[in-house]
Amino acid sequence: MGHREEIKVSEEELLLQKHFIEKIRNINLEFEQKHGRKKTMFISTFGCQMNARDSEKLDGMLKEMGYINAQEEKDADFIIYNTCCVRENAENKVYGNLGYLKKAKEKNPELKIALCGCMMQQDIVIETIKKTYKHVDIVFGTFNLYKFPELVYANIETGESIFDIWKEHKEIIEDLPSIRKYPFKASVNIMFGCNNFCSYCIVPYVRGRERSRKSEDILKEIRELVADGVVEVTLLGQNVNSYGKGLDEDIDFARLLRKVNEIEGLERIRFMTSHPKDLSDELIFAMRDCEKICNHIHLPFQAGNNEILKKMNRHYTKEHYLHIIEKIRKEIPDIALTTDIIVGFPGETLEQVEDTVDVVKKARFSGAFTFIYSKRTGTPAAKMEEQVDEETVKKGFNMVLDALNPIILDINKQKVGKTYKVLAEEYDEESKTLKGRLTDNSLVHFSGGERLIGHIIDVKITDCKTFYLIGKVL
Ligand code: SAH
Ligand code: SF4
Ligand code: F3S
Repeated sequence: MGHREEIKVSEEELLLQKHFIEKIRNINLEFEQKHGRKKTMFISTFGCQMNARDSEKLDGMLKEMGYINAQEEKDADFIIYNTCCVRENAENKVYGNLGYLKKAKEKNPELKIALCGCMMQQDIVIETIKKTYKHVDIVFGTFNLYKFPELVYANIETGESIFDIWKEHKEIIEDLPSIRKYPFKASVNIMFGCNNFCSYCIVPYVRGRERSRKSEDILKEIRELVADGVVEVTLLGQNVNSYGKGLDEDIDFARLLRKVNEIEGLERIRFMTSHPKDLSDELIFAMRDCEKICNHIHLPFQAGNNEILKKMNRHYTKEHYLHIIEKIRKEIPDIALTTDIIVGFPGETLEQVEDTVDVVKKARFSGAFTFIYSKRTGTPAAKMEEQVDEETVKKGFNMVLDALNPIILDINKQKVGKTYKVLAEEYDEESKTLKGRLTDNSLVHFSGGERLIGHIIDVKITDCKTFYLIGKVL
């Protein structure tokens, strides 16, 4: 299939959706004239940065339909939950909230409730919603987000609940309207889906097969963002290290990074997430050579024991992981390394957790997300016997934290007294403090005015806690 054809379909589809946006906007205008106020909306996002990025697109589409932000969910005329299913508690939160919304809908029958995201790609969830949560108006999944305007319009027209879930993606739709959460930084999808099938993980089932965006589309989007005031981009993918596979062009992630680095006006480049098995030497060299690529890599290792890694289907060993880190540190000595860890994978003993602790100590992570294994129906791990008892999991979890936290604090302490470039990102009115990030992704709280937001400034670190630094503007 040629590119030309692909582009044409996207453009036609986009035009069609614009047409639905227009229709809804007119309906909302009538509402405004009648009631003297605009309709309001509230989006709740669960899960990872992929979902956060999708929510920006939903936000953009809703704004074009004429909705404005509600202060709180309870005041909104349109509520969307963009859901996650990576762990059970993410799902439970959504069900809990939906229970509350039932009462809200009884009070205000005009309220629209939409559900989307990863959780909706599971048949059992759709059955549950149809049976137990009949007050939901619109349900769609991860492959047809761009159809949102059409689905909203169908619901308005018919007054019936609309379910539209696809089992796989059809094409990548470019140029959806979107509203960024921050004016000065942005996330950019470089690929969708995942082919890795780690045995515990649901993501490949709900996000589909890996597919990369064309580099020209990515670069165009970033150039436009920079022209619009963005100084930092985060390139997003479940496994950015395999970027480019399946594209007609000759490109890989390292070369994409080098091209992004050339974009004038851009200051910082971040990316998430790297899988250790696909991390190439070229990527390390690109990180070393490109001045805009931040001094940080998030490299989940999940577990330290080789038997567990094998059962997890991660395709690397503890030794290989530590070797990669050695190579990275050789080229980029002051790089910050962060990771994801799972404790309590089926059959994992406390002795095996010791291997995880060993990696933590050797790798000296400056941050980590530590998760308790959550059984996900449909994944191979869910069928493994020997699910670990709660007591053992708790012990293992604490062993890992006890190893991690002193190292993180120690790394932070070494920064006290030094000065770093910080991108000021958020302002807290009450305490009159700013929050910002060093290039190595560590968080710093410092006093300063709101006008500094979006600027990269010199901050001297004066003190630290385990999870953030304290500094002052020079
Ligand atoms: N694609 C990314 C991570 C996506 S999910 C990667 O592979 O690096 C984010 C994290 O959630 C994973 O790194 C893993 O640590 C955790 N996770 C995934 N499935 C899980 C499960 N069933 N139980 C507990 N944690 C899980
Ligand atoms: Fe899940 Fe593994 Fe894919 Fe990450 S690489 S999304 S953990 S299957
Ligand atoms: Fe969750 Fe989907 Fe991300 S399952 S972690 S929101 S890809």
